[in-house]
Amino acid sequence: MTSGDDLGAPYPPELALLDPERSGWGNLGLWHETSTYPAAAAALATQVGRGAELGPDDRVAELGCGRGASLALWRRVFGVEDVVGYELDATAAAVAARHGRTHHAPAEAVREERALDAIVSVDAAYHFDHERLFEACGAALRPGGRLAWTDLLRRSDLGALGRGAVHAAARLFGLGRSAPLDAQGLESRLNRAGLELIAHRDLTEPVLGGFARHVQTLGDAGRLRGPGARKLLITAAGCRAVLRGDAVRYVELVARRRPTRGCPLQPRLR
Ligand SMILES: C[S@@+](CC[C@H](N)C(=O)[O-])C[C@H]1O[C@@H](n2cnc3c(N)ncnc32)[C@H](O)[C@@H]1O
Repeated sequence: MTSGDDLGAPYPPELALLDPERSGWGNLGLWHETSTYPAAAAALATQVGRGAELGPDDRVAELGCGRGASLALWRRVFGVEDVVGYELDATAAAVAARHGRTHHAPAEAVREERALDAIVSVDAAYHFDHERLFEACGAALRPGGRLAWTDLLRRSDLGALGRGAVHAAARLFGLGRSAPLDAQGLESRLNRAGLELIAHRDLTEPVLGGFARHVQTLGDAGRLRGPGARKLLITAAGCRAVLRGDAVRYVELVARRRPTRGCPLQPRLR
């Protein structure tokens, strides 16, 4: 992808600082083997696409598709032809529409879809109302269809004070009302929606640690100036705070729509 994906609208200043190539990505990145932002952002999306086991014949929806760099990646890396993006931000949705079918609509509008093979969401679900999200995904997926996404998960055994502190910080960082859930809250909501959790992977260090280090590198190189710098610094501080404590983790999750609804499952996450 090349620069100038903004249809004349201003590129978000924090993304322009992070990503001088203006590649269209907007996630935190997965920083295993790379030091460039577009490569790290593509690596996080690729991880989610693998989790969903995307393939060329799949009908796919993506929730919170941002400016659509991922819509192009599902096609390029996994051969997916039939994909639709949902994005709440009007400008991002208009830019994403250049890469594939896109609805300017909240994630839960995916409930209008039917018999999808997979739903993916990269670094966006902590903005969503999980109850409504899972219900909508349960309605839109075919039996056996997969939901793969990244999210924040809070430890289950925090006391009231710890839970209060995590939720206060979450509101400060603009996370959704229910975020971050704990494992039990996640699994009970999935279960009610006819979904079962089939895989989870902790990505706290390679996502949050990698992002914080990258922002530090930009700062050390004198490249954090002007509008957008503050937002990047605050996000990096949030990442470091999560890394210092052990109350919240950044995770990749995969769930599957059960063949029939209503059968209770034992929790698998701890
Ligand atoms: C951190 S960005 C990630 C964007 C994209 N997935 C990527 O990998 O570049 C999160 C995106 O979710 C979108 N978003 C937030 N709340 C949403 C909602 N309720 N429904 C749909 N999109 C939402 C934001 O506008 C933003 O584009």
